[in-house]
Parts: sequence; C-alpha cells; structure tokens
Amino acid sequence: MKNSPATAISRTDNLNEFFTVRGGEPLEGEIRLAGAKNAATKMTVASLLTHEEIILKNFPQIGDTAITIQLCKTLGSEATVRGSTLRIKTPQIKNVQVTSLSRRNRIPILAIGPLLVRAGEARIPIVGGDQIGPRPVDMHLKSLEALGAEIITERNYYRALAPHGLHGTNVNLRYPSVGATENTILAAVLAKGKTVIENAAVEPEVIDLIKLLQNMGAIIELGANRRICIEGVNHLHGSEYKILPDRNEAVSFACLAVATNGNIFVREAVQEHLITFLNTLRRIGGEYEVLENGIRFWRTNKLKGLNIETDTHPGFMTDWQQPLLVVLTQSEGDSLIHETVYEDRFHYTQDLNLMGARIKVENECRGILPCRFKNLKHPHSARISGPTELQPAKIKVPDLRAGIAHLIATLTARGESTIYGIEEIDRGYEHIDERLRSIGAGIKRMEPNQ
Ligand code: EPU
Repeated sequence: MKNSPATAISRTDNLNEFFTVRGGEPLEGEIRLAGAKNAATKMTVASLLTHEEIILKNFPQIGDTAITIQLCKTLGSEATVRGSTLRIKTPQIKNVQVTSLSRRNRIPILAIGPLLVRAGEARIPIVGGDQIGPRPVDMHLKSLEALGAEIITERNYYRALAPHGLHGTNVNLRYPSVGATENTILAAVLAKGKTVIENAAVEPEVIDLIKLLQNMGAIIELGANRRICIEGVNHLHGSEYKILPDRNEAVSFACLAVATNGNIFVREAVQEHLITFLNTLRRIGGEYEVLENGIRFWRTNKLKGLNIETDTHPGFMTDWQQPLLVVLTQSEGDSLIHETVYEDRFHYTQDLNLMGARIKVENECRGILPCRFKNLKHPHSARISGPTELQPAKIKVPDLRAGIAHLIATLTARGESTIYGIEEIDRGYEHIDERLRSIGAGIKRMEPNQ
C-alpha cells in the first residue's frame, strides 16, 4: 500500500460515535432501499439552475446529502427536508463562493456550471485525493474551459469566470468519468448552442440526473456509443422528481444476505440496475429471485471463488467490490478482483486480514480489461483465498464503501466487534444501524466514551 494503514485505531476514536456489532447469525427479513446518494447530491446541485422550486422525493437522509444542502444554502438556497422529501429553491444566488464543508465531499466542483450561468462567477475549494486515490478533476476543468469558462487556480480555490457566457462545444472525455460527465451536462444545459459529449458516463445515476433536467425544461439526447447531446435552452423551471433507488445499498444488502447465510428481501431493488451484479452472484453460488417490488437474496450451495474486474457501467461497479470481496472470503478456492476504476481502493483489506481473511494485494493488472494503471505499480488487484472463518475485531472505517465491507465482515464473524469512524458509513447509508437491527443484526450505535 502507498500509505501507512489508514485504519489504525487511535486512543481518541471513541470520542466519536461507534458501533458495536455482534455477528455470526444469519440475517433475515426485509430492507427497503433509500434513494441513491450519487443521484440525490447531483440533483440538489441541479436545483441551483432555476429560481423555481425543485421537489425531490425518495431523498436519502445521509451525511453527503446534508452537506450538499448546506452547500446550496450558503449560495442562497432555501431548503427543507421532511421525511424523504427535499424542497429546495434558489430565487437568487447570494454568494458565489462554495465553502469547503468536508474534505471528503466532491460535490462542490459540480456547482461551477450553475454558478457561472446564474451569477457569472464561482469560487470552489480545491479538494485533494482521499483514501481511494488522488481523484484529479482535470476532465471537469477541461470541459468547463471548452464551454467558455476561464479557470484560475488560486491558493486552495478554483476561481471560474465566464466573461462571454457559456457556449456549446464538443467534449471528448479520455475516460467515461461520472463526475466530469455530470459537470459538463450541468454547465451545458443553459449554455448557448449544442454540446456533444463523447465517451460519456452512462451510469443509472447520470441518466436519472438527465431525466430530472429534462423535466426542468432541458433538451438532452442519449445517443449510441456513450454520446450525449445537449441543446442549450434559455431557462429551466421547477419540477418534482422521485430519485431512483440506491443500487449500491442493494448490492450491500445482497452481499450481507449471502455472507451471513441469511435471506433478505431488498424492497425497491431494480434488476435493470444490477444485471452484472446478479450474474456475478449466480456464478459464485448466490441465489436471487426478482419479485414485483424488489429482489430476494440468499444462498443454498457452497460459495465458490471467481475472477472479477471492476469497470464503468454496465460493467461490475467499483463500489460493489468491497461488499462482494467479503463474500469471496467465504467462498471455496481463489478469487481475484482487478480494480480498474480507482488505483488505490484496497486499503480496507488489511482490516479483513486482521479478522482472519487471506487477501493479497498486488500491483499488477490481474485481468484482461484495458486498465489505465497498467505498469504503474498501483495496488489495484486483490487475490482472495477462501474460505476463511472471520474473527471479531476492533477496526476503523477508512472510507464509505470500505465501511460497508467492515459491517458485513463483522456481522459474519462470530462474536463482538467494534467499528470506529462510522461517520463515513453515515455519509452514504441511511440509518444503517436501525435498518440492520430490523433484520436481526446485533448492532448498537454507541455514544462517545460509552
Ligand atoms: N478521473 C480523472 N480526472 C477527472 C475525473 C475523474 O482522472 O477529471 C478519474 C478518477 O480519479 C477515477 C476515475 O476517473 O480514477 C473515475 O472517476 P469518476 O469521475 O467516474 O468518479 P466520481 O464522479 O468522482 C462517482 C461516485 C463514486 C463512484 C464513481 C464511479 C459520486 C459522488 N461518486 O465518483 O462513488 O465510485 O463515480 O462510478 O457520484 C461512493 O459512492 O462511495 C463513490 C466513491
């Protein structure tokens, strides 16, 4: 690994909330999916494009959406969340500077387009890399510049201006980045003329954002071969929209059912969003049944190992490798995961090894997909030997998806574990402890120093 283990527990970790987890029992019952984090946050930013009200239904109450609402409020939005409905309205942009509310949250850069079209200027904090890699924003900036933005790098900030307004352009992304695609769309919908994005990301959350924008009055075509065409319009109006269910939650709960030898009905899980995952699950010996309002997951046979490569949609998503890797620790034989989206997303495997797993992270590409990290010596392949009996442990969550791997692993291990750093999990999973308790999990949220 490049850095020292990020998950070492410090003496002060119990100064924040933490979980105690009693694992080893099959989890059974029903969990309903929340709205997708990675659509909800972008749609909240999209609301800045109009002075009228946007109503988002199925809005997840999680750390990342709270931060995004706060971000919009500092710019002039009025927002209320009641149950799972967000009402947000920005009659006027009162401030063009986005404050750095969280080092982890990568949403601020998406506000550049809306701020430029509504106020002609934006100042956005420069966010560095995190536990999963350096996460550059070069493609975001290049697209915005092609659309007519002038971007000046200041100390800790990008300052963006659009002295001649934004205008349509051709953008060819060197990689189908989710964020860069969304950023280009958010800047292009109110730009003058037509923008064509080649090699765009087509993740379901990107499509959902496009659907909201279309309902707000935008003209956006989805072409073949990852081509998206945006015809700029003069103004966008208010709208009401129901956010798609979170497919990352769906995969997390599916893996929980299979790893604990339980049986979970995931209400609202959508087959179309999970096709690659469902095939993978069937290949390793997991079972599922697609029902009218969701999908049921369980296993009957011994699980077996498999080679997997993460990819952009419709491939096997990078956010699914962590929960699935825990299942692979319970599978017979060797498995490989070749991570081709992020260069450094296996830190959490050190904690699983502490719990008794046998995982070796390697720098080489262990697969056949074209990989941007070939010969660059990034630790982006993991070899898992199973099955192994996981033991309880005290561990600390390094990042959101690693956190769900930690939860599944501790719920699989017989005995009591402690998980620190749970604010990372709360960033993306709504009331996770309550929902897990409802299917029989022995999980408690502990107050500091408890
Ligand atoms: N990249 C660049 N330059 C750029 C933009 C991206 O090199 O200008 C690289 C990244 O470093 C990465 C790859 O391109 O290696 C893919 O990044 P992408 O832009 O697609 O990811 P993102 O928009 O930053 C979103 C999700 C991630 C999810 C990825 C891939 C949000 C807020 N985040 O990130 O979700 O893993 O797409 O699907 O939508 C999570 O939810 O925990 C999470 C990390």
